[in-house]
Amino acid sequence: MTQFEYHNPVRLVFGCGKLALVGKIAKEHGSKALIVTSGSSSRTGLLDKVAGFLKQEGLDVVIYDKIKANPLTTMALEAAALSRKEKCDIVIGLGGGSAMDAAKATAFMAVNQGDISDYIFGKPGIGALPVILITTTAGTGSEGNSAAVLTNPENHDKKAIRSPFIYPKASIIDPELLTTLPKNSIAGPGLDALFHAIESYIAKKSDPMTEMFCLQAITLLANHLPAVYDNSGNIEAWEKVVFANTLAGMAIDATATTLAHGMEHPVSGLFDVAHGEGLAALFIPTMEFAYPQALEKFAMIAKAMGENIEGLTTQEAAKKSMERVSNLMVRLNTVRKLRDFGVTEEHIDWLAANALKTMKFVIDNNPRVPSQEEIKEIYRKSL
Ligand SMILES: [Fe+2]
Repeated sequence: MTQFEYHNPVRLVFGCGKLALVGKIAKEHGSKALIVTSGSSSRTGLLDKVAGFLKQEGLDVVIYDKIKANPLTTMALEAAALSRKEKCDIVIGLGGGSAMDAAKATAFMAVNQGDISDYIFGKPGIGALPVILITTTAGTGSEGNSAAVLTNPENHDKKAIRSPFIYPKASIIDPELLTTLPKNSIAGPGLDALFHAIESYIAKKSDPMTEMFCLQAITLLANHLPAVYDNSGNIEAWEKVVFANTLAGMAIDATATTLAHGMEHPVSGLFDVAHGEGLAALFIPTMEFAYPQALEKFAMIAKAMGENIEGLTTQEAAKKSMERVSNLMVRLNTVRKLRDFGVTEEHIDWLAANALKTMKFVIDNNPRVPSQEEIKEIYRKSL
């Protein structure tokens, strides 16, 4: 019997040129904005543009531009302290997943007292400043969900704050902002979006609504990621890719991810690896482990990626999903092994223990749940 609830309160503002609305939207929620971003948005001139739109509508603007890939808890705490000092009443996250996640965590820690780790490990907060996100990559889908992934620099735990208070009040998804991305900021994040869709689709917690989002996202990404990779100016293809990315981000908000994410976070927590590339190293071995327990779903993934599965047994069709994902990684020049990032046999005990410490709930969400020994075996296969 099918039973589910679906709730996602994010106002999605989608389309070319929609960036210009940020001032009007922000004015509905606050009067003094903290923009949380990385150095690259000032280099490209995007930061000035956003600050200009905010000022045009009468908002005061404060800037925190020290966010880096795999953002640290300490960065969010520093930005939250700035927000309190400057009495900001709204946070704007501008950038890729790192900046958007850091913005959510900043908004959360601007309001909540105490140790950020307690909230990461499930302590509920009392609120957050309103957040507006502007995405400049297609990868994390952070603009469509209530998670903010951070790394603790003391113990390398990489884990999300999840709170209904950090759903963005609005997210601006303007495909024009992606047309100058370099190839390495297209392929890895694009695969992350695909992996969100696949993991959510096979998750124990999936439901008819999220499955619909995931199949659509898988098809759009399989069809259009190569086009934006070849030509980052292809705006029609970007429209499909950014939409798919948001759909996948909304799906994992409802279902969570599964084994590949559960095993990748320890890798990028310890080695500061680009998340999508870490996933690329682990993804096929995690599919090989899971597919016997979810043959029909894996067959549907193959079909959604364009495979003609007519006449194949369900098992044959399911195996095609791995071929398709593998081919796409080759097409995007993103075939990776964990050893590329410095991972060796001697790290595997720590990685497996950390996966079970920080990501047990997503590992338990996999269609086939591995033991600690099986997790180590999958790391070994990915070396
Ligand atoms: Fe991800």
